[in-house]
Amino acid sequence: MLTNFDLEKMVDTSDEWIRTRTGIRERRIADPDVATSDLALRAAAAALQAAGVQGPDIDLILVATVTPDMFFPCTASLLQQALGASGACAFDILVGCTGFVYGLAVATSLVAAGSYQRALVIGSETLSRITDWEDRSSCVLFGDAAGAAVVGPVAPGHGILAYSLGNDGSNADALTIPAGGSRLPPSAETVGQRLHYLTMNGAEVFKFAVRAMAESSEEAVRRAGLAMRDIDIVIPHQANLRIIAAAAKRLKIPYERFVCNLDRYGNTSAATIPLALDETVRAGRIQPGHHVLLASFGAGLSWGTMVMRW
Ligand code: ACO
Repeated sequence: MLTNFDLEKMVDTSDEWIRTRTGIRERRIADPDVATSDLALRAAAAALQAAGVQGPDIDLILVATVTPDMFFPCTASLLQQALGASGACAFDILVGCTGFVYGLAVATSLVAAGSYQRALVIGSETLSRITDWEDRSSCVLFGDAAGAAVVGPVAPGHGILAYSLGNDGSNADALTIPAGGSRLPPSAETVGQRLHYLTMNGAEVFKFAVRAMAESSEEAVRRAGLAMRDIDIVIPHQANLRIIAAAAKRLKIPYERFVCNLDRYGNTSAATIPLALDETVRAGRIQPGHHVLLASFGAGLSWGTMVMRW
């Protein structure tokens, strides 16, 4: 665990600044020998157990991550063996923090089309590995985590009712890791310039986030044939408490219906939504028949919202 007080010793910041600007108090950091697939495996095992499903029952594995173990093979492929899901289709989804909602949408479509029976969708990140721990404007925000869900056939009228996914590529450079790919291959120079770390235009992302979460939530709720007042629980991407509060205000959904756990984990990118969903389900806060809205935004800049009937 890394608290705001620990960060005070690393960069020129304060617990007070971080809490009031973001709502974050502490975040989890994976041990050095733990990679994204290791966190993913633990989350996957818990999801399989909760769903009463065995590894061999899974025929589709999707891992949403911006911190894969390596460029290739994909992290989903690295997991397959350990899950005992041999022969399953396995690939990663690279849409930043929006990745888990994209993964659920892809899995739902493929299961509904009859192409696959049971999918495992995982959001897993070790953001600590791409965080510039000398950059106070970003290093206070991130943490490591994983969460997972099993997607399979459900009774008509239940499960995923509608979603809205999209992207605004004109803002692509607002959130990026500049080097390490084919545009700027790794070299001593790129490493020296710290270009392998995440860079972010925080103010730009903030503005985009509030607008994208609000507009796409309206779209998804409308597509589900519901009104905002029908939404019982909102699981927003956990980036900043002020973004969540602003989105709640725009959507006119009471703030108490929003789940917030970023004070304990920080922003864990594709893992925030499955992690918050899992905690909310285990706390008994989501009951059968509840309408749950997932609302995310991330690198791209992308957005993804989804409405479920539990
Ligand atoms: N501690 C103390 N001061 C700081 C810190 C810090 N950690 N970071 C920045 N400051 C200073 C700045 O230098 C600036 O000082 P100045 O006025 O003297 O120039 C001042 O605080 C205000 O900085 P702002 O950037 O304007 O602060 P803002 O209120 O906008 O908050 C934040 C910044 C928290 C980053 C906000 O813009 C935000 O949350 N943006 C969205 C971030 C986000 O959601 N990212 C998604 C990433 S997803 C992914 O990467 C996978």
